[in-house]
Amino acid sequence: MQVSKAEFNRRRKNLMAHMGDNSIAILPAAPVRKRNRDVDFPYRQDSDFFYLTGFKEPQALLVLKPGRKHGEFVMFCRERDPERELWDGYIAGPVRACSDYGADDAFPISDIDEILPGLIEGCDKVLYSMGANPDFDRQVMGWINAIRSKSRSGVHPPNEFMVLDHILHDMRLFKSKKEIQIMSKAGRISAQAHIEAMRACKPGMMEYQLEAVYINHFTRNACRSQAYPSIVGGGKNACILHYTDNDQPLKDKELVLVDAGCEYGYYAGDITRTFPVNGKFTEDQKALYQIVLDAQSAAIKQVKPGNHWNLPHEAAVMTITRGLVKLGLLKGKVNQLVKSGAYKPFYMHRTGHWIGLDVHDVGDYKIADQWRLLEPGMVLTVEPGIYVSPGEKSVDARWRGIGIRIEDDVLVTKEGCEVLTSKAPKKIADIEALMAS
Ligand code: GLY
Ligand code: MN
Ligand code: MN
Repeated sequence: MQVSKAEFNRRRKNLMAHMGDNSIAILPAAPVRKRNRDVDFPYRQDSDFFYLTGFKEPQALLVLKPGRKHGEFVMFCRERDPERELWDGYIAGPVRACSDYGADDAFPISDIDEILPGLIEGCDKVLYSMGANPDFDRQVMGWINAIRSKSRSGVHPPNEFMVLDHILHDMRLFKSKKEIQIMSKAGRISAQAHIEAMRACKPGMMEYQLEAVYINHFTRNACRSQAYPSIVGGGKNACILHYTDNDQPLKDKELVLVDAGCEYGYYAGDITRTFPVNGKFTEDQKALYQIVLDAQSAAIKQVKPGNHWNLPHEAAVMTITRGLVKLGLLKGKVNQLVKSGAYKPFYMHRTGHWIGLDVHDVGDYKIADQWRLLEPGMVLTVEPGIYVSPGEKSVDARWRGIGIRIEDDVLVTKEGCEVLTSKAPKKIADIEALMAS
């Protein structure tokens, strides 16, 4: 499943329509990064670059120049090279950059210093992601200086530099029908992996062995990469928010928190489930778990057009605080405890983020200092949690070392919302029934 050539073309046209007169946009492909001697990290295209081109190769550069007579969409990319391709695989080359990716004009990346200054020359405005990549910043300055050095011959260098991110990232925030189909599939594959993990889990297993269930399921379903490193935290490891060591045994009568999602067709899934290692929640675990589940339901109810970004978080905070008071972990009046942030030792992160090509996707959360209103086509996560640190002296010992988070990916629709990851069980009875089967 992938976005059509026509859609990539619409995205470029849309961006160009917002760029203004006499402007040029320049976007580099992601660099190849070294893992260790002679070994690179698996290559993953930059999300902005992919969004506008669908092009997955490194050493490429995209230029958009609205109104250019010889074509508005120009690509620089690696040249075809039979010997290189024998070692490293297929290279599209400039000819196919035009025929397969819709470029109007394409050149070898090795010619960029000769050609790009000429494309920039005469433009008033250059749009690019300033500051994101120091090497690229230096390269851009090199091209600009090459133009400036010719200014006595009447060439005029651009006088305005603008960050590209704002326009482009606002476009990426609103998902098309096709993007929603792809993200639904990422959600379904991620959810099924959680089901398989719940089935496979048993005391004595290592955290990495449970992680392997996810990776196996993702890979078998065309997801060669996780959307982020999986968190598989048994017992108190669940209280370490970014725990990725995943190298401890899973113990009887403890919970395991798994935050894992696949990347499918370049789009992220992001699901957290917390379940009992032996398949049965203890009474204390149930009590805390139910608060988190109620907080998540209350937050998801707030996901609808017209509501602002922070309402789901506020609903989650209220439900968690009320629940912690009821169980005696917090003492005092709920409203005051919310106001003073007394819940923060137990719930220290926010309730979600945008999700899309990046797991923490682009898009502003506030506009003119006000929380942004939700609109159809936006996709966000809803992921409240309760984490009782093993060293938390203020609460009864039986609560210490329990960490719970429940996370789903939620699409804002005209009517309200749709949970894209709903196939992963989260009700206590449903999890226990699945794990018993
Ligand atoms: N998995 C990263 C997050 O939940 O934000
Ligand atoms: Mn998340
Ligand atoms: Mn997550």
